[in-house]
Amino acid sequence: MLDADQSMTEHPTAVVVGAGGIGSALCRFWHEECGYRVVAISRRPDSHATVDWRVTDYSEDSLRAIVESLQQQNVALDRLVITNGFLSRDGFSPERKMADLDAKKLEEVLAVNSILPAMVLKAFWPLLRASESPRIAVLSARVGSIEDNRLGGWYAYRASKAALNMLLRTASIELKRLNRRAKLIAYHPGTVDTALSKPFQRNVPSEQLLTPEFAARRLHEVLLEIDGAGELSYLDWRGDNIPW
Ligand SMILES: NC(=O)c1ccc[n+]([C@@H]2O[C@H](COP(=O)([O-])OP(=O)(O)OC[C@H]3O[C@@H](n4cnc5c(N)ncnc54)[C@H](OP(=O)(O)O)[C@@H]3O)[C@@H](O)[C@H]2O)c1
Repeated sequence: MLDADQSMTEHPTAVVVGAGGIGSALCRFWHEECGYRVVAISRRPDSHATVDWRVTDYSEDSLRAIVESLQQQNVALDRLVITNGFLSRDGFSPERKMADLDAKKLEEVLAVNSILPAMVLKAFWPLLRASESPRIAVLSARVGSIEDNRLGGWYAYRASKAALNMLLRTASIELKRLNRRAKLIAYHPGTVDTALSKPFQRNVPSEQLLTPEFAARRLHEVLLEIDGAGELSYLDWRGDNIPW
């Protein structure tokens, strides 16, 4: 197994986009337990004094400015993790049936869960080209699997993650030409105890509800274990392939 830590510089650089439950835990884990230099990118004001925190509105201009400032500092990326995603909010619960579909809400979910991560990847493209062997994870979800959809429901969230997977698959083919040592994965973190899953935890057996800290460690380990190149992998927190 490749020990990626050995192949990286003394202080590997990790960029974490989105600082929710999993994103924040990952920032803490990489900074405190791995000694990585961590850059966090979020709409939220700075909440980790030890992390290089960049506030963004996720517009193209804002993302480009952040990437340019990293380039000016000659940052080479070892890790890029994009965690943005949402499932429900006040006034919007995942659809149970066709009659619940609402075009505006579908658009909103697709904008955050599919389009936003793709635009982040676009902004980072020049840095990914210039980096030695970047490993990139975008937080997808098992419910984005078309083959695995046996229960139905959650139209917008499922569709947004399936669309995300296709955007990532297409990106990975181009990425191979851009930097043959780069590796991209679409990642299912498990059911993790965060604000996103809170309203839906009632039927989840406690042993299946992962802590954000455990989820961060597993993502780190999966990124260490994956083969260094090739097209998109769709992996869960155990490191197992998920059917498309
Ligand atoms: N928790 C689970 O059980 C679970 C299971 C499967 C997949 N996932 C996926 O894992 C990822 C992280 O989820 P989490 O559990 O950490 O959830 P969370 O605590 O609710 O964090 C949500 C993240 O999404 C971003 N986000 C939410 N709404 C946004 C909006 N309107 N515009 C831009 N960014 C927005 C937030 O970014 P800011 O920091 O900028 O606010 C934050 O980083 C998501 O993609 C989710 O779909 C989670």
